[in-house]
Amino acid sequence: MTVGATKLHLAAAMGVPMQKKTVLITGVSRGLGRALALELARRGHSVIGCARSPDKIRSLQSDLASLNPAAASSSSSSASPHLITTADVRSDSSIKELAKHVVESKLIPDIIVNNAGTINQNNKIWDIPAEEFDMVIDTNLKGTANILRHFLPLLIEKKHGIIVNMSSGWGRSASAEVSAYCATKWAVEGLTRSVAKELPPGLAVIALSPGVVNTDMLTSCFGSSASLYQTPESWAPRAATMILSLTTEDNGASLTV
Ligand SMILES: NC(=O)c1ccc[n+]([C@@H]2O[C@H](COP(=O)([O-])OP(=O)(O)OC[C@H]3O[C@@H](n4cnc5c(N)ncnc54)[C@H](OP(=O)(O)O)[C@@H]3O)[C@@H](O)[C@H]2O)c1
Repeated sequence: MTVGATKLHLAAAMGVPMQKKTVLITGVSRGLGRALALELARRGHSVIGCARSPDKIRSLQSDLASLNPAAASSSSSSASPHLITTADVRSDSSIKELAKHVVESKLIPDIIVNNAGTINQNNKIWDIPAEEFDMVIDTNLKGTANILRHFLPLLIEKKHGIIVNMSSGWGRSASAEVSAYCATKWAVEGLTRSVAKELPPGLAVIALSPGVVNTDMLTSCFGSSASLYQTPESWAPRAATMILSLTTEDNGASLTV
């Protein structure tokens, strides 16, 4: 953790109220994204969220509405402080559409969390089908790039913003049978450091490893021992505090929750 973020952690600990933020999170239908969305909303921040599963998107919309019953019962459809919708980060046109929707809703994000991700089934490289390898690259790497392409210009126009690219311990180390996933997370670290050098003053991009959390993704690679790890709900408060504390001094850093 760098000095800038430490100062803000101290401010939070001393009870200095933080400004309400608008936070875009990809991959909010389950796991870390969903828990983070709910945690930020509970703290009074506005969440823009996307994922592909319509039923799970509706479930999150309903859970967010129950945190803010006044908005839910209002006759104005614009009363909700959140915008939760279906979008596929693999599709440039889907993310272009999401950015258009966000601009029309006047909800330009202060923080973007590129969280949507997938992992290959445990397999040696020669046993990972080409389509599955492509799916992991298209989601974890090209999905992040699609968000940066369509949202960075909005943040640059506003002259401020923090982008968090979800990395992994496997973006800094390696393991057998998850080569496709490791390749994308090492790429996310490289992408982050390169983009950090392109950003104008007022903006920052950070690679963030969330630690190890019991989600569908962890079950895929760890099997039943995934249940030995922290839940997304216990992870989210620490992650939210850290993400809200990031400053431009953290630009280009590789951090861990
Ligand atoms: N859990 C861990 O211990 C751990 C450790 C290191 C890093 N991470 C990283 O943390 C992030 C979240 O992981 P997680 O464990 O929460 O995974 P998860 O439980 O599998 O959830 C993944 C989320 O990403 C969404 N998603 C997948 N493909 C998408 C697409 N094409 N477009 C939009 N959304 C998409 C999924 O929603 P839909 O399927 O509905 O689209 C879901 O909401 C990932 O980037 C992962 O690599 C996790």
